[in-house]
Amino acid sequence: MKDRPKAKGLAAKLRRGWRTLKNEQSSPTRLGVAVGLGVLLGCSPLYGFQMVLGLALAQVFKLNKLGVIAGAQISTPPFTPLVVIASIQLGHFLIHGRWLDLTLQMVKDTPGKELMTNFFVSFAVGGMTIGLTLGLAIGALTARVLRQRRLEDLKQPPITDGEMDELYEALGRLPRQFRHYGAWKVRLDPIYPLALPLLAYRTQLLDLGAGMGLLGVLSHARFPALKVRCVEWDVEKVTIARRLLEGVSEVTVEQGDARTVALGSPDAICLFDVLHYSPIEEQRAWLTRCVTALAPGGILVIRELDPERGRWGLAEQIERNAVKRGWNRGGGVHPWPISQLAQALRDLGLTVEVQPAGRGLFSANALVIARKA
Ligand SMILES: C[S@@+](CC[C@H](N)C(=O)[O-])C[C@H]1O[C@@H](n2cnc3c(N)ncnc32)[C@H](O)[C@@H]1O
Repeated sequence: MKDRPKAKGLAAKLRRGWRTLKNEQSSPTRLGVAVGLGVLLGCSPLYGFQMVLGLALAQVFKLNKLGVIAGAQISTPPFTPLVVIASIQLGHFLIHGRWLDLTLQMVKDTPGKELMTNFFVSFAVGGMTIGLTLGLAIGALTARVLRQRRLEDLKQPPITDGEMDELYEALGRLPRQFRHYGAWKVRLDPIYPLALPLLAYRTQLLDLGAGMGLLGVLSHARFPALKVRCVEWDVEKVTIARRLLEGVSEVTVEQGDARTVALGSPDAICLFDVLHYSPIEEQRAWLTRCVTALAPGGILVIRELDPERGRWGLAEQIERNAVKRGWNRGGGVHPWPISQLAQALRDLGLTVEVQPAGRGLFSANALVIARKA
């Protein structure tokens, strides 16, 4: 990986400041404690002082300030009246052994100052009880989820801050909607951290159906010497990809039908979310061409939604919609079960591995890693 000079400009400074805040005291346990403390303060009746007190305590006890702020959001609108009524009722019950004749609507209609004056003790007792209980539960859950996430990150190292900076700089040249789309796509889609390590020690990458060229930017950021050829048939995306990759001579962007262009003999070919626009027989012929073109020892990396995995239906609808609206240019959506696709590659003599490569709505996404002897 190359050493990069620090990105300049206000946006880069803001990003660095944000990262510093995000990464300080960020072990899962400390972050869990920070969020738990935020929840406790958020449920306390110290309205107006919760944030200041939270930040001061975070400084003293060396906790992540963003974690404390996030936890304190438990009592921000629209949750405020719910937390207030639950706190007052519970406090009153703990002190007097009975519930108050107080409804949510009454809490919404009464000024905060009046509630404080009339019910301060009940509010304090109930708020601290709820805060402690929720703070412990939410803090412990936060620490647990983060520990699991970190273990996953070890298996699949995330895109580095330096690589993200390079991407943000390139995205800065694009119109707003592409800029935001590109940034969110890379932040949320596991394909990039999964695929980039597979490109180590490769010399020529062919990215078929390259879209706006995000893989081109990221693969160049990680492997500056890798020659990348992006092929995309949508003229608008080609223009965007060229602007994104302006001044990067190692990455070229070509307009054309990736099923029929001359493929050369690259040692890596990527087809991410592109095969399914063509009927299955065309996909088969396309893969055969790719396998023939691939240099000995080369790798073919495919990502597709697998109709045999769970939660395929909604993702397919989203994709059909994207095609209908012209966001993704294609002749329809033709899902090919990954087990059959993998078998077709094995029949062509490749060794094939399949692994999950999606999250949330797109959890039916699968990554196919096929190697040529
Ligand atoms: C869902 S996008 C994925 C883009 C990119 N691979 C990524 O992962 O960000 C699929 C892209 O493939 C392009 N595409 C589909 N069929 C193609 C073909 N036969 N030749 C070239 N591009 C194609 C579409 O225009 C679209 O930009």
